[in-house]
Amino acid sequence: MSTVPSIALSDGTSIPQLGLGTYKLDDEAVVPVVHAALEIGYRHLDTAKIYRNEAGVGRAIASSGIARDDIYVTTKLWNDDHLKAREALEASLERLGLDRVDLYLIHWPFHQAGTAARAWEQMVELREAGLTTSIGVSNFLPEHLDALAAISEVVPVINQIEVHPLLQQAELRADCARRGIRVESWGPLGHGSVSMAEELPALAAIADAHGKTVAQTVLRWHIQEGLIVFPKSSHVERLRENFDIFDFALTEADMQAIRALNEDRRVGVHPYEGNWS
Ligand SMILES: NC(=O)c1ccc[n+]([C@@H]2O[C@H](COP(=O)([O-])OP(=O)(O)OC[C@H]3O[C@@H](n4cnc5c(N)ncnc54)[C@H](OP(=O)(O)O)[C@@H]3O)[C@@H](O)[C@H]2O)c1
Repeated sequence: MSTVPSIALSDGTSIPQLGLGTYKLDDEAVVPVVHAALEIGYRHLDTAKIYRNEAGVGRAIASSGIARDDIYVTTKLWNDDHLKAREALEASLERLGLDRVDLYLIHWPFHQAGTAARAWEQMVELREAGLTTSIGVSNFLPEHLDALAAISEVVPVINQIEVHPLLQQAELRADCARRGIRVESWGPLGHGSVSMAEELPALAAIADAHGKTVAQTVLRWHIQEGLIVFPKSSHVERLRENFDIFDFALTEADMQAIRALNEDRRVGVHPYEGNWS
């Protein structure tokens, strides 16, 4: 049914390249959104303890009628749980109503605390225990990845970072590629803080040439860059729009034109600032 490509990960598993983000959808609001997304064909859900919606995501999965194994579920280890990752993942699984997730990520390096390497050792154990199929990180810079490499031979399969046309992160993405780490783009449409159409009017001409919206054009750019992407929307028509990006292709000239729009401009939080506990 799904036309979404799969991306191979370094641990031998694979992940649907397009999914649904759930940040800012609370436990109640997330249920109809996940139902609608699954109905449209989404099979990849991105949540986190800190989104406080794991229970709603779990309820939506359980009542969807879709087999658990047909849905890729990611959740994340919060900062003040770095030293108790097992307890944190077990609590997340309890809320989700699942006996394992597909991917567990360290949400932020939280380098002020110096605990990420300890967290990583536990993440490896959680994978060995079967509580998560794959393990990765989020918001990690090369120095944070180096700190994991210094204590473990297990390389994260994913680094989930802010990426969109205003902040393309070419160097960090290349660093991840050298390490065999696939990159997921968070805030792919501007994180709800900015509108790509307003910030980058040049996108409209490319979108028009393909008979697509600016959001579809931006998401297609992520896909053709080999990024894994999970836009969030609380509107069914936008869920459909964001899924309908596999019947056209940007030309190499389009891709270059979008690459030229990079301003190294964050609209979200810098990894050094992700220090809430
Ligand atoms: N690891 C991390 O630190 C981290 C940080 C942030 C996000 N994330 C993950 O990444 C996911 C995606 O990022 P995000 O939610 O921050 O931002 P996003 O997906 O870039 O943008 C979401 C915003 O775009 C709007 N939108 C969605 N589809 C649209 C369309 N077709 N046309 C116009 N506007 C559209 C949404 O509005 P409506 O809802 O009103 O449609 C919402 O305001 C999150 O949900 C979360 O799962 C991870």
